[in-house]
Amino acid sequence: MTMLGLVAGALALGLLALSPRAPAGSRFASLAELGALRARRSRPGGLPLGVAAVGRWRPTPVALCAPPGESVLVLGPTGSGKTISLIVPALLAWPGPVLAASVKDDLVVATGAWRATLGPVDVLSPGGGGTLRYDPVALARDAPSAIRVATSLATAGQGATTGEMAFWAQLAAKHLAGLLLAAHRARGDLGLVARWLEQRADHEPLGWLSDPADDAVARGLRASLGREERQLSSVLATAESVIDPLLGAAPDCVLDPGRLLDGSGSLFLCAPAHDQRRFAALFAAVVDEVLRVAFLRAASQGGRLAEPLLVVLDEAAAIAPLADLDVLAATCAGQGITLVTCFQDLAQVRARWGERAGTLVNNHRTRVVLGGMADPSAAELVASLGGVRRDRARKDGPAPEARPLVDAHELRQMPARSGLVISGSLPIARVRLRPWWRHRGLSFRGEAARRDDHRDCA
Ligand SMILES: Nc1ncnc2c1ncn2[C@@H]1O[C@H](COP(=O)(O)OP(=O)(O)OP(=O)(O)O)[C@@H](O)[C@H]1O
Ligand SMILES: [Mg+2]
Repeated sequence: MTMLGLVAGALALGLLALSPRAPAGSRFASLAELGALRARRSRPGGLPLGVAAVGRWRPTPVALCAPPGESVLVLGPTGSGKTISLIVPALLAWPGPVLAASVKDDLVVATGAWRATLGPVDVLSPGGGGTLRYDPVALARDAPSAIRVATSLATAGQGATTGEMAFWAQLAAKHLAGLLLAAHRARGDLGLVARWLEQRADHEPLGWLSDPADDAVARGLRASLGREERQLSSVLATAESVIDPLLGAAPDCVLDPGRLLDGSGSLFLCAPAHDQRRFAALFAAVVDEVLRVAFLRAASQGGRLAEPLLVVLDEAAAIAPLADLDVLAATCAGQGITLVTCFQDLAQVRARWGERAGTLVNNHRTRVVLGGMADPSAAELVASLGGVRRDRARKDGPAPEARPLVDAHELRQMPARSGLVISGSLPIARVRLRPWWRHRGLSFRGEAARRDDHRDCA
């Protein structure tokens, strides 16, 4: 064996020894096994995760990132560092276009100034203070677009695609498609749609849908208006609740996904915490629209976006519960779109996506579970993905019991600002989080916001 081989062997043994009690069965990834997660200048586009931890959660200088181009799922209770240690660093590190939805304005505050140096920054904040609005009437240019926009608005925020709510959402979408297209043809706005809903108008909107190309939509509206009284009332009530958050004073500038994708732009969606439910359908529809345009663009650019897009859904269950999030997590990755979805716990995912929750988790190739999780289902997830370990058998003793590599108790007691990274087929890696201001190369970018604040005050 050469000298180099001896040194490498000794190093590998040393690194393995840093793992807690080298058990039989599953174990944590050693530093030597973390190649796919190591942050490298030569591999841009990976999302910063912090530094690898070994032994008793001792931080090492090895910076980790989620592999580029793959969807990332983050599970972490409130205050665990999802925003300051994972999302803000991702937004500061990303060189191309970004769509970020959050329940607070924390992402715009921390990253808006830096992102503005890369391209246009837009904020859609229906609660007030935004710079643009989402206009479904403008988007309903023809029958297929009207059906798509109405369906996305009515159903995208529903999470699960079955059940009574989904049933009414489908019927409301049919009705709304007709009214949106009619309003578009009438050069009207959403106020006109609201008036038609209120008045149960038939002649006026149907009169605008006389073109044979609009026939399918016109038939849908006619059928909807012909429903028996109780059903019609429910359909109209559902449709009204869908467009209600979009009404009222709004900025003139209208959402344009092209502006975001062409110029390394940033689109921030912010909803006040107390109004999340009201705006969930709106945000889901906006994300849906941006992704639709991004997919079309990817197809025209050889299957992948030339300039990859980052989509971050903080508090995804509350803010933008896209009905087909599980499918998107799988399809985005291949097309140059990195999807990062954050949840407080797995129970949220199950409540929203029901039996599709498992696929949703699986379709994110990298999952990060942060310290302090008291959610038993998160422990089950880590146990099922992380495998089991067996303590060493004692001489003449009984066969050691198999137990999860990380059990519920250990998950809850992980140190503050720490996490487990379960990525692809790698053993579980342990990571110590770093707030954005302690990321080399990124802190300066975030500080841009503060510098600008001070300049404003001066
Ligand atoms: N700018 C800041 N400077 C110092 N500490 C901060 C700053 N922003 C947040 N913190 C603290 O860092 C911790 C992690 O905050 P963070 O907002 O990342 O949590 P989170 O996991 O996103 O929680 P939530 O689910 O409530 O959004 C919290 O204890 C918070 O008080
Ligand atoms: Mg947060």
